[in-house]
Amino acid sequence: MTTLLHDTAPDFDQPIAVLKHCHNRIRKQLSTLDKLLAHLPEFGADEQARQAAAAVLKYFEKAAHLHHDDEEQDLIPMLRAVAQGEDAATLQALAPVILQDHKDMDALWQDLHEQLTLIAEGTSTALSASAVQRFCQRYAAHMEREESTMAPMALRLFSPEQMTQLGQAMQRRRGIAPIAPVAPAIGQAVADLRKDYGQASLNETDVLDDPMLQFTQWFEQAIKAEVNEPNAMSVSTVAANGRPSSRIVLVKQFDERGFTWYTNYDSRKGEELQDNPHAALLFFWSELERQVRIEGRVERTSVEESDRYFRSRPLKSRLSAIASQQSAPIGSRAALEQNYEQVAQGAGDDPARPENWGGFRLVPERLEFWQGRRSRFHDRIVYERQEDGSWTRLRLQP
Ligand SMILES: Cc1cc2nc3c(=O)[nH]c(=O)nc-3n(C[C@H](O)[C@H](O)[C@H](O)COP(=O)(O)O)c2cc1C
Repeated sequence: MTTLLHDTAPDFDQPIAVLKHCHNRIRKQLSTLDKLLAHLPEFGADEQARQAAAAVLKYFEKAAHLHHDDEEQDLIPMLRAVAQGEDAATLQALAPVILQDHKDMDALWQDLHEQLTLIAEGTSTALSASAVQRFCQRYAAHMEREESTMAPMALRLFSPEQMTQLGQAMQRRRGIAPIAPVAPAIGQAVADLRKDYGQASLNETDVLDDPMLQFTQWFEQAIKAEVNEPNAMSVSTVAANGRPSSRIVLVKQFDERGFTWYTNYDSRKGEELQDNPHAALLFFWSELERQVRIEGRVERTSVEESDRYFRSRPLKSRLSAIASQQSAPIGSRAALEQNYEQVAQGAGDDPARPENWGGFRLVPERLEFWQGRRSRFHDRIVYERQEDGSWTRLRLQP
């Protein structure tokens, strides 16, 4: 969920979103190339031009190859293994085109590589407009092809386990070790870890300046310690009449924008947030004797984000979301199941997200990290967001 917090990149548990994010970075590099073309005749290989050439070189020499390998070695073979019928036919036609694109783009890159190296060194100002144009056009068409066919197909066909498998393969390719499931053989190590945390403390000097990074660190430690449902959090809302209510939901994403969960917008929490967008979240990781309290304003995620997440859910969960008018009364379990059957019969295998279902994101204004200590003499460190976006930090008495 998180090495990407500095950058709005999604996490590897959403590998298709990561691939799309790579495309956006490629688009940025292509636009730099275009600007460099206009810059060179007027300013020569000045500092700005040298830096731009070096950045484009660095990206296409390394990151672009990793991205192609993700597709060739993992995404396409995994799609081949699951696609059937029309999807299999589309893939059979598309995969060779994608592979050929990669080869052609590599060849086009070779033309640019030498020219950019000389510009980065400051020894030449020559950059072929037609080579830049061919390279940019080919890439743009290629990315469009992938985004309009392969990515939606993967989102539709892959199970959560296959998404995890793809994300982990991509992490390994980049030398980032995915968090490994804890094998029974190392159960003792986990027990020791818990014991360690049992004796943990939280000092002003230990915590990170950025509370989201601090949260990420604790969240990763909660996963490592095999905390039960580490992403379960309580969400408290307050109705227009001033009365609070709480329930547990699962956080599905957290990054510098905030904490995201998915639900029904017409539910009790949805209606209360409509009247009063202020809410509080609470994580309790009992095995580590830790809690994190988070307060802020809640906004809806974009339609695209909600669609993307909805499509990534197992079909039965999507059908349940359509069939249930969350928080509304119903006469019996049988009536509820009848609604589900009706929805399942008419929905097909790629039902659209209902408009009243989607994501909420709490944008934090205050976070408190609480670490249990002996004799109830606990540690509490609070971060508060300032108007300029910076965070202040203070300690509270237990
Ligand atoms: C572990 C756990 C995870 C849950 N995750 C979600 C969730 O992600 N989204 C959701 O709408 N409800 C989730 N629920 C159900 C909610 O707690 C709650 O019953 C539901 O959202 C209706 O709440 P409301 O009537 O206050 O709106 C979860 C419950 C539990 C116990």
